[in-house]
Amino acid sequence: MFKWFDERLDLIKFKEKFLSKTFPTHPTFLIGEIALFSFIILVVTGVFLGLLYEPSTKTVSLFGATVPAAYASVVKIDLMSMGMLVRRIHHWSAMIMIAAVLVHLMRVYFTSAYRNPREVNWFVGLGLFGISLFAAFTGYLLPYSNFSVTATSIGYYIAKSVPWIGNWISRLLFAGDFPSAATVPRFFFLHVMFIPVLLMVLIGLHMVILVKQKHTEPSSNGGRPEAQNGKRLIGIPIWPEQAFISIAFFFFLLFVIALIATYIPLNPIETYGPPSPGTPVMRPDWYFLVVYGFLKLIPGDLSFSIFGGKITPETIGGVVFPTFLILVFLLVPLIDRSKEPQHYIVSPLRRPFMTSFGITGGVFLTMLVVSGYIDVLHIEPKTMLMYVVLATVMAAVVSYALLRLYNKKREG
Ligand code: HEM
Repeated sequence: MFKWFDERLDLIKFKEKFLSKTFPTHPTFLIGEIALFSFIILVVTGVFLGLLYEPSTKTVSLFGATVPAAYASVVKIDLMSMGMLVRRIHHWSAMIMIAAVLVHLMRVYFTSAYRNPREVNWFVGLGLFGISLFAAFTGYLLPYSNFSVTATSIGYYIAKSVPWIGNWISRLLFAGDFPSAATVPRFFFLHVMFIPVLLMVLIGLHMVILVKQKHTEPSSNGGRPEAQNGKRLIGIPIWPEQAFISIAFFFFLLFVIALIATYIPLNPIETYGPPSPGTPVMRPDWYFLVVYGFLKLIPGDLSFSIFGGKITPETIGGVVFPTFLILVFLLVPLIDRSKEPQHYIVSPLRRPFMTSFGITGGVFLTMLVVSGYIDVLHIEPKTMLMYVVLATVMAAVVSYALLRLYNKKREG
């Protein structure tokens, strides 16, 4: 059979060209794989859920109550054998994928792996990050619970607040006003079709670029003559060594996610109930808390107009601030440039400015997450803003001073 396929597909050549490539051995390189494997688990569990889910808000009867069909279909999934487990695995995989993408991004940043020639993969990666967040956002609406509608309406008001084109964007994304009967089918299409295909294409591109450019290597290889300054990678072959490690790692990850999903409930829609007006605003998931926290710090009456476009607190917190963050991330490899291709990861301790910049950004964003809880912490927005500025400035000064001191001592 192999001979038959080999004659037609040139499998031996493929094996020699691709499968004998090397993969550098460094534990942090597994983080990207966690993101990749969580995505695979999401697709498989998503197909199962998609077969049973009903993307409609028409009302049906469920145990004597009148509820939206989408909500009823998810309650029915929860009640069937293994249904709730699959739904929880799907949701936990999404959490773990986003956390892994974030840690992977930090790994790439703090080891300076984004520099020449890997800037393109940094940009593709940023696209992957943004689209993964969008996948989570569209997924939240689907069970059409009380939480779904409250969380999605925050996004709706943000989309509407884009100056000049807000109405057009919100109508395109939400298929009209929200909540309305048309939004669920639109989000269902985006969540199960458009976004997964886009993610698959971009992940494919990310991997093709990775194979073409080769992976960065641990700096300990730097002194090894056989490394030939990036022309040869030192590591283990993709086939069979790395493939077996990856397969084992995939099943280990699946085991961990299934274990967590078994014991820790997520998004218990039966507790939230179907949408009902007048419920208090619920906090979104942790990855949206940066924007949510920022919105809490902006005075509610801060509104003005520019060239006929209305700027509201939602515009500043939900549009201007995320755009600013995206710009900063995009600019990283363009500002920290190097003319020569860089093939080794660098210890963050040896790059005081970039490391301190990363730590400062991390502290700032973490403080915004904390700001999402000011109601629970009973802190006034103005006081919290002061804490955010103080913590950010302190992180910048202390981290930079310590790293400079470390490098002076090392050189001395
Ligand atoms: C769905 C999201 C993503 C997946 C599945 C993914 C997957 C991977 C995998 C498996 C690797 C090789 C192993 C490793 O270095 O960890 C890799 C490398 C890389 N990724 Fe990602 N990634 C994603 C998002 C990102 C993001 C958000 C960024 C940065 C903004 C990024 C930038 C890079 C770069 C520059 C490399 C090459 C690193 C090197 O050569 O050291 N990726 N990615």
